[in-house]
Amino acid sequence: MTYTFGSLVLSGAAAVGLTIATLVALRNTAPTAPGAAVHEQGRTLFQQKGCIGCHSVTDKGLVSRTPMAPDLSALGQRAAARRPGLAADAYVKESVRQPQAYIVPGFTEIEMPTLPVSDAEVEAIAAFLLAPPPGATR
Ligand code: HEC
Repeated sequence: MTYTFGSLVLSGAAAVGLTIATLVALRNTAPTAPGAAVHEQGRTLFQQKGCIGCHSVTDKGLVSRTPMAPDLSALGQRAAARRPGLAADAYVKESVRQPQAYIVPGFTEIEMPTLPVSDAEVEAIAAFLLAPPPGATR
């Protein structure tokens, strides 16, 4: 009787230990996983929605076969300075929603079309474009 009780206590302690280990593991992965998923989704959408038809993002390994628009490499370094009062994220979203709101100097020959993308898709695309390239130190 005492022995059984002892082993019950032990397995109870083991279960608590496992639960704590699981919680710690979940807490450690939580902050990075969703961001990485959105970033990956943005990368896929950039290709699916046809952005790649005109734009390369060379520093992230995406090269257009018919580049006719600005390379969107290092967009995070210039996006915030494009339009007074618009933060980087807002500028990139506006570029997709209302491409004619701001015309990149030197790119007046071709008009960027307004493509059908949902709010969630624009979020993901902006997250992808504004993320530092792989291996960046900033
Ligand atoms: C038919 C070609 C074409 C397609 C397709 C296209 N774009 Fe563009 N895009 C352009 C051109 C041309 C410009 C530069 C003129 C301007 O500012 O509108 C531009 C400008 C931009 C800019 C501003 C860049 C800067 O340096 O400020 C962003 C951001 C952008 N596009 C994102 C996208 C995204 C995201 C998609 C897909 C949803 C896309 N574009 C699809 C032609 C295209």
